Amino acid sequence: MYYEYRDNNLFWQNTDLVEMVAHIEKELERDYSYTGPFYLYHKDILMHRMSFFQSTGPAASSGIPEFFYSVKSQSNVHILKIIAENSHFGMDIVSGGELFRAKVAGISPERIVFAGVGKTFPEIRDALEYGIKSFHVESLEELEAISRIARSAGKKAGVALRINPDVSANTHAYISTGKEENKFGIPVYEFSSALEILRSSSSLELVGLQAHIGSQIQDVIPYKKTMEILISKAAQIPEDIKKPFEYLSIGGGFGIDYEHPLVNDPDAKEFPVRSLLGYLEGVQKEFPYRIILEPGRYISAYSGLLLTHATYNKQKKDYRITITDSGMSELIRPALYQAFHPILPLVRNGRTQIPHDIVGPICETGDFFLKKYPVYPIQPGDRLAITHSGAYSASMSSNYNSRPMVPEYLLENNSFRIIRKPQTLEEMIKSETSLL
Ligand code: LLP
Repeated sequence: MYYEYRDNNLFWQNTDLVEMVAHIEKELERDYSYTGPFYLYHKDILMHRMSFFQSTGPAASSGIPEFFYSVKSQSNVHILKIIAENSHFGMDIVSGGELFRAKVAGISPERIVFAGVGKTFPEIRDALEYGIKSFHVESLEELEAISRIARSAGKKAGVALRINPDVSANTHAYISTGKEENKFGIPVYEFSSALEILRSSSSLELVGLQAHIGSQIQDVIPYKKTMEILISKAAQIPEDIKKPFEYLSIGGGFGIDYEHPLVNDPDAKEFPVRSLLGYLEGVQKEFPYRIILEPGRYISAYSGLLLTHATYNKQKKDYRITITDSGMSELIRPALYQAFHPILPLVRNGRTQIPHDIVGPICETGDFFLKKYPVYPIQPGDRLAITHSGAYSASMSSNYNSRPMVPEYLLENNSFRIIRKPQTLEEMIKSETSLL
């Protein structure tokens, strides 16, 4: 999508990666004595992806954000600040930690919605205190808990009921959320009980209905089915509790193309956002609700890569294993969802690709990036771009195998700046050593 080779050197949205990476590595070594992998983000791509939503948004004139960026996909505060500068966007958060990040990024409370099946007492209290727009409520017990906490704080809580529409999103089982058997949302048969709770509570205000059916979805049809369910449920809400009712949220989940990283590849195919927005515009004309979306991956995935170095090769009978200096601690998606991330060498050697397993250094057989995949021959020391690592990569990273968190860089205006320093060994174990 955003990559191309020019004279065998990899370019990323017109940035010469060979040159840029050399400068970054020099800085990392000079300032931090660090020579390992790092994430790199491209602001132009992030802005380009956001523009898909703001240009044809279903409620472009409402003045209130209609897109709530899903913070979990990429939560570095520098990235969040860029998102916060766009008035079409709010933020969809799922924890007290994400609330904290959103606050630091400077997003105002009315631009925050809070999802998640297990919001705790302190999380609800702090979000109420900040005055967020609404809680996306996932169970009757949670609704009662929010009511109690709001009452004792003397506040009114905006809530939207997250409905489980029992719709299949045709995606990986681990990221499917809208089926009856999934843990998410309030089942339709409990809807009337939820309305009863709302009627009897003076500290709750029903501001919307929401659904999120899964992630990496390629088809508009499940969204249409879901929207129809939300519309029919909204029609069942009695007028006395429908007073501030404002919106229907269809969630996020818009899939990208992980298979074809090069520009102008005619086979590249991603979720048809424009077609969905067109459909939603029609809905919006017919019904008096604002429609909101919660995109994550569609905005952030292409705008990041994980830069890694080949350390060793092993020759097997009919393929090669290349071991790199990053692993599932930096990108767990292949291990968790059998996800595919194309890997492109910064310098292309030769024309023939040979089958490779590209793996990490971690002591797990599941620690791999690619299996039997044809790539240009790789030599130890070669730099590799693990593409489409802007979403669910750094935000899902860990210290497994006691590997410190790796740095993050942002490319902007043809320049670069560090947006997360490499974690030092001391920092990694400080909360333990401080108790010795
Ligand atoms: N809204 C809600 C309520 C969500 O739970 C999510 C993602 C989103 C919006 C954004 O979904 P997106 O547009 O990014 O697909 N770690 C997995 C993805 C998990 C998604 C969790 N919820 C992966 O790497 O594929």
